[in-house]
Amino acid sequence: MVMTDPEAFGGRKVAVLGTGIIGAPVAKNLRKRFAVSAWNRTPAKAEQTVSPAGVEVFDAAADAVAGAEVIVTVLKDGPAVLETMTAATPGLTRGAVWVQLSTVGATATEELAGFAERNGLIFYDAPVQGTRQPAENGRLLVMASGPESHRRDAQAVFDAIGGRTVWVSAQAGAASRLKLALNALVAALTHGTAESLLIAEALGVDPRLVVDVVTGGPLDSAFFQSKASAILTDDYSTSFSVTNSIKDALLVVEATGQAGIDVDVTAAGLERFRRAARRGHGDKDMAASYLAG
Ligand SMILES: NC(=O)c1ccc[n+]([C@@H]2O[C@H](COP(=O)([O-])OP(=O)(O)OC[C@H]3O[C@@H](n4cnc5c(N)ncnc54)[C@H](OP(=O)(O)O)[C@@H]3O)[C@@H](O)[C@H]2O)c1
Repeated sequence: MVMTDPEAFGGRKVAVLGTGIIGAPVAKNLRKRFAVSAWNRTPAKAEQTVSPAGVEVFDAAADAVAGAEVIVTVLKDGPAVLETMTAATPGLTRGAVWVQLSTVGATATEELAGFAERNGLIFYDAPVQGTRQPAENGRLLVMASGPESHRRDAQAVFDAIGGRTVWVSAQAGAASRLKLALNALVAALTHGTAESLLIAEALGVDPRLVVDVVTGGPLDSAFFQSKASAILTDDYSTSFSVTNSIKDALLVVEATGQAGIDVDVTAAGLERFRRAARRGHGDKDMAASYLAG
């Protein structure tokens, strides 16, 4: 099966399991090239976000994957992916390609690869970098690992949802380990921005001056600007939630503990996210690190 020519792909089907902040735009962008079915734990959300784009929404994961030659998972974490794929098992077709986009960490990726092997699926470990806006624009960065054999099929999916694919290894799992390194950077940048603004305010200086000094200089970035803007305008509309940030930090702490290194910044940042969640900000954007101050 090769899907590089969208016209030739015709009625063939891609199933998307999970239509959250990333999953919904992924399904919509795939729909521009393929027939797409979808399932979400809360069906009403999928009906609201992806049905209008022509994605067929099913109440059962097994029905959504029935007849699909590619399955894309975009769920919260490893247990959610395993539970959903187990529920989908009666509908799975042996030989189908499974593109696993969720951030699940190293250990869970091994478990999912085992599930794929037992069920005759071709598994691609493919976590993404980029948040709500890049997902909507089809500009995610995909880190991918998996066998050479079906890469053209996986790449057809990545081309529909992303601007760039970094192939990490033929061994599934390597991409998720790379993703953990990026998780640590994203959290550190977020906390650094939040604390810098908080420090300025606490010390009696206008925090907007922090942004003024950084803008256009070597410390500047689109990421810094977006998190600083969220904090200064008190608009924590979620691109990536505090709750999911806790999940990601825990994955880093777990994997690095096994690797025998200390990740002091990530560990401190985890506590900061947990404090923000305890204060009722778990569903807000990770910029709510500021609210843990
Ligand atoms: N947002 C980002 O910036 C970003 C960037 C890179 C990677 N990611 C990763 O992409 C994945 C999805 O993130 P997101 O931001 O789209 O999260 P989200 O908006 O919170 O969506 C999470 C999805 O997982 C589903 N879910 C949660 N627990 C479940 C369970 N136990 N069983 C079945 N489904 C369950 C949710 O269903 P309901 O709708 O029913 O709650 C929803 O579809 C995560 O692994 C995240 O780390 C996100």
